[in-house]
Amino acid sequence: MSLRGVILAGGKGTRMGELTKVTNKHLLPVGPWPMVYYPLKKLTGAGIEEILLVSGTEHMGDFVELLGSGRHHGCRLTYRVQDEAGGIAQALGLAEHFCIGSRACVLLGDNIFRDPLVPILELANSRPDWAWIGLKEVPDPQRYGVATVRNDRIVAIEEKPPQPASPYAVVGIYIYPPDVFGIIKTLKPSARGELEITDVNNHYLRQGRLGHFFLEGYWTDAGTLDSLDYANHLVRAEPPRF
Ligand code: G1P
Repeated sequence: MSLRGVILAGGKGTRMGELTKVTNKHLLPVGPWPMVYYPLKKLTGAGIEEILLVSGTEHMGDFVELLGSGRHHGCRLTYRVQDEAGGIAQALGLAEHFCIGSRACVLLGDNIFRDPLVPILELANSRPDWAWIGLKEVPDPQRYGVATVRNDRIVAIEEKPPQPASPYAVVGIYIYPPDVFGIIKTLKPSARGELEITDVNNHYLRQGRLGHFFLEGYWTDAGTLDSLDYANHLVRAEPPRF
């Protein structure tokens, strides 16, 4: 089964203050590049050539101007507009047609990490009908989806729990089989009014079809002023591996 890439680059960037008044968070600089280059280079570096970028109406023109057809990055880019920010799972739902008959490697556009994707994809290929998610031990798990792991199996995932049961954040690297789109259609909005990717992952967990991997190198989101700063520091100190 083929594997297609999906970069989720929507959202309002409300946590970025004045920096996102006239632009999209994923176009802000991280090291020498706009943030969106990182997920793009992760995918192309792993040999994924068909890539969909999802973003809102306001800045889609800027993404097209920056990335064009994808030719200069060795890929073919398709763009889809998310009319209103309704969560990661809703944005992923827009990839249904693009992913017909393929699995999807989904990257959150504001996640910056060191590890290359190839070994992760090789692991995911061992069970192509499972969903695969990445974990990383962090000092502030309450900011993220948090997985409880027992005997090397995930037993629970909670979205932003006030009292996290483990230090393992669910990172924005997901690999899904084609049935993910049917699952998204069954979701109800969460308390924050979004279709949650954690609900998708819990669905696979209940079915016994959820695999995981631990990232070895650094990982951060870059969706707040502090974490954007930190992402810049990380990539300058140690460039990511593509
Ligand atoms: C989202 C997901 C969360 C995940 C995080 C990774 O959070 O909902 O499970 O841990 O991305 O960056 P959000 O950025 O919507 O707060």
